Amino acid sequence: MAELTQQQLLDLVNSVQIAPGNARVRAITQRIVSDLFKTIDELDVSADEFWTATDWLSRLGASGQLGLITAGLGFDRLLDIRADEADQRAGRTGGTPRAIEGPLYVAGAPAAKGEARLDEGAPKGEVFVMEGQVRDTAGRPVAHAQIDVWHANEHGGYSHFFPGTQPYELRRRIEADAQGRYRFRSFLPPGYAIPPNSPTSELFAALGRHGQRPAHVHFLVAAPALRTLTTQINIPGDAYLDDDFAFATRDDLVLTLERGVAPAGYASLGIDAPFVRAHFDFVMQPASSADEASPAARIARVTGATA
Ligand code: BEZ
Ligand code: FE
Repeated sequence: MAELTQQQLLDLVNSVQIAPGNARVRAITQRIVSDLFKTIDELDVSADEFWTATDWLSRLGASGQLGLITAGLGFDRLLDIRADEADQRAGRTGGTPRAIEGPLYVAGAPAAKGEARLDEGAPKGEVFVMEGQVRDTAGRPVAHAQIDVWHANEHGGYSHFFPGTQPYELRRRIEADAQGRYRFRSFLPPGYAIPPNSPTSELFAALGRHGQRPAHVHFLVAAPALRTLTTQINIPGDAYLDDDFAFATRDDLVLTLERGVAPAGYASLGIDAPFVRAHFDFVMQPASSADEASPAARIARVTGATA
């Protein structure tokens, strides 16, 4: 092989091929490789630094924490901002704002009709009921909308990811009633923190950043002919509300809590003492394609099945 300059090497890496390959993958890879060549050169990255970084990437991959890094470096919120911008350009307005899904969704949660209790046994925090209605942007109730809901446990960990949790703990799929109404009981969750002593915490320590998320609850709402909505609500008063390491807080998604609500009417959720309640209506946009109305593709991504 001939001697090469940096530029000649880059041109070669970006042009060599024995088959057409995938044009989109080629274009994106070429851009990323070009940007990294430039970063290495301009920041004078040493061989030690380079191999330390590749070791970190290998450990990150093995840890399954890549989704924490994408959120912490702003990519998840970036995708939401870009989707909001595309909607604005297309004149698609109204509806509950989207908010990042995060890497901790699990498909297949136990199903319930109309209402559900997410937690089991003695409450692990303040007893909390969230209730409301699913409507479309024309104000019509969305009968039988599917609401996947999930949140962290009292230690800030998620079932299926945090040691010692039960399968589907604090995860349910609630089918709204004929008027689109839903309600669930759980406890007010604490915030989330990235796992200590992990590839993720190593990076955030090196960046001088914390890895805290404010208390929140996730939702994936789906109904025929309506655009699947991925969002989350925040619990007010959290110290990290405006300092989320994943940059995901949105004004319209911070709940208003009513404390000391009388238990009458909540016996079916096992409530017999004053509790904390929040009302939140989900408003869904019309879908512009069958894909938009179906969470199947994104569920397949989570389960590893083919869509
Ligand atoms: C979460 O939703 O809890 C989460 C989101 C992004 C990264 C880590 C956690
Ligand atoms: Fe979360």
